[in-house]
Amino acid sequence: MKIAVVGTGYVGLVTGVCFADLGNTVIGVDSDESKIRRLLAGESIIFEPGLAEMLATNIKRKRIRFTTNLQEAVDACEVIFIAVGTPQDKKTGEADLRYVWQVARELGQTLRPGATRRIVVKSTVPVGTTESLERRIRDTLRRRRVKAAVTAASNPEFLREGSAVRDFMEPDRVVIGTRDTKTASILTALYKPLGAPIVSTDPRSSEMIKYASNALLAARISFINEIANICECVGANIQEVAAGVGMDKRIGSHFLAAGIGYGGSCFPKDTEALVYIAGQGSVRSRILESVVAVNKAQRVRFLDKILHYYRGHVKGRRFAILGLAFKPNTDDMREAPSIDIVRGLIRRGARVAAYDPVAISIARPLMPAGVEYASDPYGAAKGAQAAVILTEWNEFKELDLRRLKRLLKTPVVFDGRNIFPLENMQKLGFRYISVGRREV
Ligand code: UDX
Repeated sequence: MKIAVVGTGYVGLVTGVCFADLGNTVIGVDSDESKIRRLLAGESIIFEPGLAEMLATNIKRKRIRFTTNLQEAVDACEVIFIAVGTPQDKKTGEADLRYVWQVARELGQTLRPGATRRIVVKSTVPVGTTESLERRIRDTLRRRRVKAAVTAASNPEFLREGSAVRDFMEPDRVVIGTRDTKTASILTALYKPLGAPIVSTDPRSSEMIKYASNALLAARISFINEIANICECVGANIQEVAAGVGMDKRIGSHFLAAGIGYGGSCFPKDTEALVYIAGQGSVRSRILESVVAVNKAQRVRFLDKILHYYRGHVKGRRFAILGLAFKPNTDDMREAPSIDIVRGLIRRGARVAAYDPVAISIARPLMPAGVEYASDPYGAAKGAQAAVILTEWNEFKELDLRRLKRLLKTPVVFDGRNIFPLENMQKLGFRYISVGRREV
């Protein structure tokens, strides 16, 4: 099948490259010329395991190419995916759809008479967007007096950063939201090689499935973090509690890791967008408001633990920050808890030496002035008062803890991701302060 993917950001690039790998012919479109130049040179612009190799192979096989020229893609492909960004309006929490509407305008202007095109919305968009996108394109065609057949479908993505290629190739389900049976059968055929169950529904329900899925996962994280905070009061261990709770098949064990809360490009944005959407319909989403509030408070609570340990006197003390990315296996810093925690320390006069396996260059402009960067965890730890773990990279799980202890000025570790067993840390003689577990 010939497919165009408009937007070569995270979702667009993974989608385009994976469809190409499945044997389709893909044209990736982006208005950013420098991005297109880099992609044409086979450079994978984002850090995602497996993607660079897959991109190179499919460029070589001539299954994927890139252009800034939307017309070229629209002329060549019956199926056009929209995967442009839908950033968050900082004031309202609402999704900002300017890029989606821009593509809609351009599609309306570039479609040729007699064409049949299926527009598929991959971007996360407010409920009703797919329908109004279809209306807008048809309106433009009518104004141009061009007779072309346009149908739109919603087809949300459920890709996690760091495992996006696998998530695309082995999805739990594929959601297709359209009222047009022909479009539904074309998209079903496109996804058939993945062998995943297909949820065929209307566009609005499809858009809602995406929001509800992310909201529920975010809610699990805030819930388990709240339980972790209660565990601290009552002397229970959150990891044992989560394991025991998760064994109930009705609950399941995923997304029950307590820590310093969720970050990234989706959960923070989508939960707030859903609160906004609810408000527009005069529904007060009390649960989601709390999910957002608990998440924001969790990183502050962790910072407070550090401050409390030093009775508020962190001025002049040096801290080794281990991990900056919002989660492991990505260099993404969007909404990373590390930003607030490092800022909080620096604001109080602490000194910070930070290390992250891949996110340092992206983190630099987001971090306050004065942060130093180390080229490995031991460099960061040298002469520091304590190590502070903010991302659960495997590299940290495999740290030589004896060496770490020797390098630190005092053997203190604050762990926002609960990566070490309490007994080990106790045996090694660390003061070890984590989340939802007793201090040792
Ligand atoms: C998420 C969704 O999983 C994906 O389906 C959607 O398309 C985009 O948003 P992503 O943001 O890449 O993906 O990461 P994910 O692995 O889901 O983690 C999100 C955040 O939750 C991270 O900050 C992570 O540290 C945190 N998290 C996750 C927890 O704190 N505890 C958990 O148990 C799981």
